[in-house]
Amino acid sequence: MFSTWVLLLPFLSSLPALVQAGETCNATSVCASRAPCCSEFGFCGTDEFCLGGCNALSSHEKDSCKPAPVCRDATYTFADNSRILSNVTYYEGNATAHDWVLDSGNMFNTNSSGGELALTLTKENGGSRMSSTRYVFYGTITAKLKTGRWPGVVVAFITMSDIKDEIDWEFPGDGGRVGETNYFWQGVIPEKSNGDKHEADTETFSNYHDYTVNWQPETLTFLIDGKVVRTVKRSEAVVNGVSHYPSTPSRVQLSIWPAGIESSAPGTVEWAGGMIDYEHEDYKSAGQFYTLVKSIEIKCADTQPTTGNITSYVWGADSTSQSPVVIYSNSSTLLNGASGMHGAIQQPLQLWMTGLVGLLVVFGVCM
Ligand SMILES: *[C@@H]1O[C@H](CO)[C@@H](O)[C@H](O)[C@H]1NC(C)=O
Ligand SMILES: *[C@@H]1O[C@H](CO)[C@@H](O)[C@H](O)[C@H]1NC(C)=O
Ligand SMILES: *[C@@H]1O[C@H](CO)[C@@H](O)[C@H](O)[C@H]1NC(C)=O
Ligand SMILES: *[C@@H]1O[C@H](CO)[C@@H](O)[C@H](O)[C@H]1NC(C)=O
Ligand SMILES: *[C@@H]1O[C@H](CO)[C@@H](O)[C@H](O)[C@H]1NC(C)=O
Ligand SMILES: *[C@@H]1O[C@H](CO)[C@@H](O)[C@H](O)[C@H]1NC(C)=O
Repeated sequence: MFSTWVLLLPFLSSLPALVQAGETCNATSVCASRAPCCSEFGFCGTDEFCLGGCNALSSHEKDSCKPAPVCRDATYTFADNSRILSNVTYYEGNATAHDWVLDSGNMFNTNSSGGELALTLTKENGGSRMSSTRYVFYGTITAKLKTGRWPGVVVAFITMSDIKDEIDWEFPGDGGRVGETNYFWQGVIPEKSNGDKHEADTETFSNYHDYTVNWQPETLTFLIDGKVVRTVKRSEAVVNGVSHYPSTPSRVQLSIWPAGIESSAPGTVEWAGGMIDYEHEDYKSAGQFYTLVKSIEIKCADTQPTTGNITSYVWGADSTSQSPVVIYSNSSTLLNGASGMHGAIQQPLQLWMTGLVGLLVVFGVCM
């Protein structure tokens, strides 16, 4: 079985070590068979460790993680929050039952103008993150949302693959009309940041804007209110002969995250516009900081038909691009014998709250 991993990770010079349940895993120390799945936070386990975010490159076998629910065209609105599972602990991999899972924090529905979803940040909850149950493997994703306007508070709308391909819209602090875009390949921190800044017509706290990621196999386009503000080409993302272009099925995630806190590095605090002020008038009147989400539209752009018996994406053989090939499959995405609740191990969600940018700034790399 070790040969699988030598094939999967041809760039490794030695065989991977095997890691037990609850211990940390990575591409060089993969999980042992008894706790085969490496969670998105880098811990070995079973059950929910094998669902959304499970990293095949650090798991026991490439197919240890459950197959990823395939993309379906949809427009999600939030007249109520019935399609969002409010506690991810109860998620069993059934993307028909739930469109979204709340990974951490709190949400509520405002009921105003047809209903809005609010994700909250309080002193106590450490922020909130919601993930789609289905994956997108190329497609156009548009979020109509209102950001924060508070120093130290970051709002993010991103796509994140299980092997850490990532595409970001980020709104740190009081950016006025500004949103930031970024992208990453397999969690690699580029020598020169891929980040960029863009302006909406009006400021982003009081006004809804459409933020779009149009992610196609060869071109990645970012739009505000339907207007292209940035284009990235796969052919331009080559580093040392390998294209560092996001290329694997990804979940859509929305989050609000505290960057301006004591435990953050100075670069983090600066990027986010300073320390969070929990005495802020907005915080006192609302009882929380929040981001409002009006709708999320997903138009899939799979490179193969996903009709009929196709239910999931699974990992296939390696390719020369150093990304494993993705196979369209009819395999079930459900946990076997799922019974409703699984022994959760406390994992540091906050590190991945806003994707790699969040992780970078936690460790003090200034964007
Ligand atoms: C991978 O995990 C092992 C075991 O926890 C650790 O010793 C090693 O430093 C990690 N490697 C990387 C690249 O993080
Ligand atoms: C989710 O459910 C589990 C099991 O009931 C519970 O221990 C945990 O506190 C819940 N999490 C939240 C955020 O409510
Ligand atoms: C998944 O959820 C749908 C919708 O709630 C339900 O009809 C279906 O039976 C569920 N599948 C399984 C295997 O539980
Ligand atoms: C929204 O409306 C529903 C149904 O009318 C009600 O149960 C709920 O309490 C309302 N929520 C808020 C935040 O007002
Ligand atoms: C789906 O069904 C078709 C026709 O029944 C079959 O040819 C194909 O192999 C199936 N695909 C998978 C992934 O099982
Ligand atoms: C997947 O398709 C194959 C044949 O194409 C079939 O034998 C198998 O039962 C299918 N599996 C599921 C879970 O539908």
